[in-house]
Amino acid sequence: MFSRILGTGSYLPQRLVTNAELAQQVDTSDEWVRSRTGIAQRHIAADDECTSDLALEASRRALEAAGIEAKDLGLIIVATTTPDMIFPSTACILQAKLGARSGAAFDVQAVCSGFVYALATADAMLRGGACHYALVVGAEIYSRILDWNDRGTCVLFGDGAGAVVLAAGDQPGILAQHLHADGAHREILCVPGTVANGAVSGHPFVTMEGGAVFRFAVRVLDEVSREVLASAGVGVDQVDWFIPHQANARIIEATGRKLGLGPERCIVTVDRHANTSAASVPLALDLAVRDGRIQSQHHVLLAAVGGGFTWGAVLLKWV
Ligand code: ACO
Repeated sequence: MFSRILGTGSYLPQRLVTNAELAQQVDTSDEWVRSRTGIAQRHIAADDECTSDLALEASRRALEAAGIEAKDLGLIIVATTTPDMIFPSTACILQAKLGARSGAAFDVQAVCSGFVYALATADAMLRGGACHYALVVGAEIYSRILDWNDRGTCVLFGDGAGAVVLAAGDQPGILAQHLHADGAHREILCVPGTVANGAVSGHPFVTMEGGAVFRFAVRVLDEVSREVLASAGVGVDQVDWFIPHQANARIIEATGRKLGLGPERCIVTVDRHANTSAASVPLALDLAVRDGRIQSQHHVLLAAVGGGFTWGAVLLKWV
């Protein structure tokens, strides 16, 4: 038994914020942000939008592309660091908004690796016979956990959602997946606050040691990509498309160089929506599917790294 992706969808909130607009609020410039990160703009959710709303739009598009209805889903996993509320899970809220009432629904919290973690989890459950159809979503409203006076972090992130519908079957699909975590590195990227006794306790905004994150990300994206290729018996030369977490164009370039994957085989969307954490890989995947770059029988390598630290990769053959 295998799982394969039947359809993809994505959604970006309407409001677009350029680097130039940000430069009116904090001491930065379009040149600084573009040259260090490749980011040109980000989308920011409206005040009355929540993560499940973004997830809903992306999910509807993925379900339409897959040609199935929400009531057919036996599993919904939402990867998010910015849930609608403490509980219930954003996946349960999404299930209700989709009008589905059966099957399992839960969230995965692996920060920027969240979608890859959720996809690997759904793959394992489908292969184990848990159900026939699964919806896997990465959705984030990072704008609400950013200190908009901190130029070191606020320029890097944006809001968005991406989704895929998976089906169980006797043909792959997903060929291999590997997940890792090492909590010893939890302090170089975190939001070290929580809600306790009716108030925010600790610091409720993203804090980051940029240089350390950069070096760690390039090392583990390279390692886990090689690991997943080796376990599937697929060579780097056979990879048609590399879709890494869209944090920073320089991280993507450096990882591609280490792996021997040139820019012509890397899908890059960070310029248009910045780092959308768990939404970044499915946003890039959806774009490359819809613009026709990803074709039947192509090998597609997804890899992500995020706070925790967490990292993982999924290799799939596009059906
Ligand atoms: N605009 C202008 N100057 C800035 C800005 C800004 N937005 N942010 C920081 N600076 C300043 C700093 O204050 C510092 O100034 P100083 O030297 O006077 O102290 C200087 O720029 C630092 O410059 P560089 O060392 O050249 O910066 P660097 O090339 O390391 O780039 C960056 C910083 C972009 C954060 C880089 O380290 C990076 O990309 N790290 C990875 C971070 C990342 O992608 N995080 C996303 C989350 S992680 C994930 O998703 C896995």
